[in-house]
Amino acid sequence: MMEAAILPGRRRFAMRPSFLLVALLLALAPDAPAQSPSRGELLYTTHCVACHTKEVHWRARRLATDWTSLAEETRRWQRNVGLNWSDDEVEDVVRYLNTTIYRFPDKAPKQTG
Ligand code: HEC
Repeated sequence: MMEAAILPGRRRFAMRPSFLLVALLLALAPDAPAQSPSRGELLYTTHCVACHTKEVHWRARRLATDWTSLAEETRRWQRNVGLNWSDDEVEDVVRYLNTTIYRFPDKAPKQTG
């Protein structure tokens, strides 16, 4: 598979142009970590950290109060920015944010349409 030639990881990648760019940048980065970041992390750090740091997720009056509302905020924000992410990409970013920050019970369906 051509994906394997570009990215040695075993993760399921949808080869979208924006992701290809991220993958390329990652491949070119001299200090790429041994364990590559997840797609959710790449998507989030590429598109979302520009105007909010983790503080926005830690504040007391947070909008995300469970997995569902976190997913809604994530979907809303990627739409605001005009990214048009697939459900799969939204879920990957929700998973990344939840793993690193929110730690809500994982309610994500295994397979989204
Ligand atoms: C234009 C600047 C901007 C960009 C780009 C942006 N955000 Fe935000 N985000 C904000 C601001 C400001 C808030 C808090 C304001 C509010 O209460 O709605 C916020 C809040 C959030 C929250 C809710 C946090 C909480 O718990 O209350 C989530 C989740 C979130 N953003 C996800 C994302 C994701 C995912 C992306 C990338 C697709 C993104 N944001 C891109 C400015 C931005």
